[in-house]
Amino acid sequence: MSDQKPQPTYLKDYQPSAWLIDSVDLRFELGEESSTVRSRLAMRRNPSGGDAAGPPVLHGRELELVSLALDGRELGKDDYRIEDATLTLPGAPDSFVLDSVVRIKPQENTSLEGLYKSGGNFCTQCEAEGFRKITWFLDRPDVLVCYTTTIVAEKAKYPILLSNGNLVDSGEAGEFHWARWTDPFPKPSYLFALVAGDLVCREDSFTTVSGRDVTLRIWVRERDLDKTAHAMRSLQKAMAWDEQAYGREYDLDIFNIVAVDDFNMGAMENKSLNIFNTQYVLAKPETATDGDYVNVEAVIAHEYFHNWTGNRITCANWFQLSLKEGLTVFRDQQFTADMNSAAVERIDSVQYLRTAQFPEDSGPQAHPVRPSSYIEMNNFYTTTVYEKGAELIRMMHTLLGPERFRRGTDLYFERHDGQAVTCDNFVAAMEDASGVDLSQFSLWYEQAGTPTLKVTSAYDEDEKAYTLSVEQSLPPTPGQEKKKPMHIPLALGLLGEDGRELPLRLAGETAAQGGHRVLDVRAKHETFRFEDLLARPVPSLLRGFSAPLHLETTLSREELSFLLAHDPDSFNRWEAGQQLAGGLLMDLIAQRQADNRLILPPLLAEAFRVILADETLDPALAARALVLPTESVLAERMEVIDPVAIHEARRFLRRALGAELREEFLSAYRQSRREGPYEIDPVSMGRRSLANLCLAYLSTQDDARLRDMVIAQFESADNMTDSISALTSLVNTECPEREDALTRFYETWRDETLVVGKWLRIQATSQLPGTLSRVRDLMEHEAFDLKNPNKVRALIGAFAHGNQLHFHAKDGEGYDFIAEQVLRIGELNPQVAARLAGCFNRWRKFDGARQEMMRSQLERIVAAPGISTNVYEIASKALGAEGREPAA
Ligand code: TRP
Ligand code: ZN
Repeated sequence: MSDQKPQPTYLKDYQPSAWLIDSVDLRFELGEESSTVRSRLAMRRNPSGGDAAGPPVLHGRELELVSLALDGRELGKDDYRIEDATLTLPGAPDSFVLDSVVRIKPQENTSLEGLYKSGGNFCTQCEAEGFRKITWFLDRPDVLVCYTTTIVAEKAKYPILLSNGNLVDSGEAGEFHWARWTDPFPKPSYLFALVAGDLVCREDSFTTVSGRDVTLRIWVRERDLDKTAHAMRSLQKAMAWDEQAYGREYDLDIFNIVAVDDFNMGAMENKSLNIFNTQYVLAKPETATDGDYVNVEAVIAHEYFHNWTGNRITCANWFQLSLKEGLTVFRDQQFTADMNSAAVERIDSVQYLRTAQFPEDSGPQAHPVRPSSYIEMNNFYTTTVYEKGAELIRMMHTLLGPERFRRGTDLYFERHDGQAVTCDNFVAAMEDASGVDLSQFSLWYEQAGTPTLKVTSAYDEDEKAYTLSVEQSLPPTPGQEKKKPMHIPLALGLLGEDGRELPLRLAGETAAQGGHRVLDVRAKHETFRFEDLLARPVPSLLRGFSAPLHLETTLSREELSFLLAHDPDSFNRWEAGQQLAGGLLMDLIAQRQADNRLILPPLLAEAFRVILADETLDPALAARALVLPTESVLAERMEVIDPVAIHEARRFLRRALGAELREEFLSAYRQSRREGPYEIDPVSMGRRSLANLCLAYLSTQDDARLRDMVIAQFESADNMTDSISALTSLVNTECPEREDALTRFYETWRDETLVVGKWLRIQATSQLPGTLSRVRDLMEHEAFDLKNPNKVRALIGAFAHGNQLHFHAKDGEGYDFIAEQVLRIGELNPQVAARLAGCFNRWRKFDGARQEMMRSQLERIVAAPGISTNVYEIASKALGAEGREPAA
């Protein structure tokens, strides 16, 4: 970052490119000191105009220019201009060939963007704007080009040479060898990929619906080969599912996945050469938890699904990121629901949305699903663009119904294959295929913030009519003061005394239409009058979380208990439990703040007892119903966040429930663990989640017998789920066995870096005193590496984002420590540092003393010399000093 303030880019300024690239031919000479990239671009002026009438301007960063030639003529210093990470060619004709040669240093690239090294191998990460760190280019998603890539490297060190598309030629020359790949599909530069290294693969195949055989290869280091079976099965399932659910067939004869240890995000959908964080590929029972298995399956599917939603049809500009990400997250959620349990999937997704996206949407970084400006695009890979974006697609699915939705996606693929388009194009395809008017719905893409929906009800005894009154509101967010009412799908059912769904007839309708329906809420105030109801029903509202909003109802605790016990909608059963426990916890927090003695609410104990006794209930759902709302969800409900009171109230409740329901937890624990050998399927995973949930409640008790049970599970576990659950309980208990267990765990797993990450994480999130100094010590441990994002997230990220109690310690030590790490990591990896800096976002929600301390850490960060645009954007917006959305 230079002395000037970094400038935002605005959606309103977007224009298509004035220049096009007809072909690109790249040659990489990979070396130990530096690498040379030779590029030949065939460029011409865009016949339909574009962003500027002037000469071509290419993007490039940190490139050492060796030579430039235009139409074969070597350019001298006066023939081009390099400034502000751009290359201008003033004398270029309307059509020309540009040859450039640059030198780059992948070995020194700690940003993990562009070409870099991981574990001795070369790999790339180009999204969003990393390709410009490889060569001069029009590095924007709406410039689509066919690539030819030749890789030259030392044979012994880098036996495997991969790029996008098909291998068309290869050869050897002394100690070197080379491979040439061509990708027949035009693609934006962010989908380019190259890998060169010492890798082995698991190979399998998939036969597409039309009978084409596709070779599937998953590339890893040799010692990880025994952890690739699950990823391969997941890929095959995803390929079959996309054919059946969306009619999407794979389009090349080869599909490669490469797993690397050093990666900024989860994975990347580069055309036919996906590159993954090892965390989302490797899994075997000894090292991976059930959660890891589910995540691997979901991320493999997510990246595969991008082949159609992202690659074949891509984004016109980065403001449209949710076009590919929201849609692809929705598709991977549907896939996970189909492969496992739909109710569990929905609960987990909503839980994540509430824990991560809702705070973002009500804080200083709040932005629309389609942002209207950004300083650093990498900061906009957010839960708003991804998870809320997926909710928008889900709402369209709900409004249209599955058949019309499918007609909409069919039309979208047919219309836009091979194009770079916008979120509006997607919505238009949905409208045109269904006849449903989505013009008001489109506001969801524009307006930031989480709406509140207030629902009140009245029953008219004489008329046998039940009226729901609905009021929507949307709070102001940075740059958006006034909001318009949105189009909200409100799914609901009305339950009778016995818990059965009642037939629903709205005033004006001639016949009842079944027990579950979706109401269209469009105005600020709306009323819906249901007739022929013989008694006052209990409403089951916002079923399946049919819109991403805060629902406010006047349901009593008795009614919530009733829904928790009886709602035929599994999601709403869980939700009723969360509302009930959340309300009771808010009372306990207030009691704690008033220094009153806390008492276990009998209603909750009773509700939990019923769940534990219900043998018909799916154990996976039971486990989720018994989890109390998280500290961050509770924090969002407070006017002024009190992290200590939240923690203590929640801990009290866990202990009190553990004591009160000790026998019930014990018997559910034993029951769930009795069921035979370790398997990985939804039923077995559900049982393990219930067993380990019971174990966690039991381990809150000061009781040697229960402690022995935890230790016994730790010692006898034949899988990581049971092992890490037991260890987590021990790490949160003051007991002599704690340190010994940690040491033994490390000794066992020191060579499995993903397991070491878990070991770091559970220590960083420990609730016991002394956690910060433990974290500091662990930074010096051989297991830690400040350059590896997984390790940084496991230790430092987990402390900042996942340990509210210690991060917000009264003495400000947690804040000081994290600010210091943001600055240190910022010098190595701006993307990772910027995400870490987000832990200060909610500073205004705390008490005066904490506010003051967090604000001064943010000021320290913003003032630090040479900080990246990434960190600058996050910290300055947190302070409220930058990046207001421009007035429309
Ligand atoms: N497109 C990737 C995905 O969601 C996200 C991604 C991977 C990414 N690596 C990145 C985004 C680096 C920004 C920077 O599947
Ligand atoms: Zn994605």
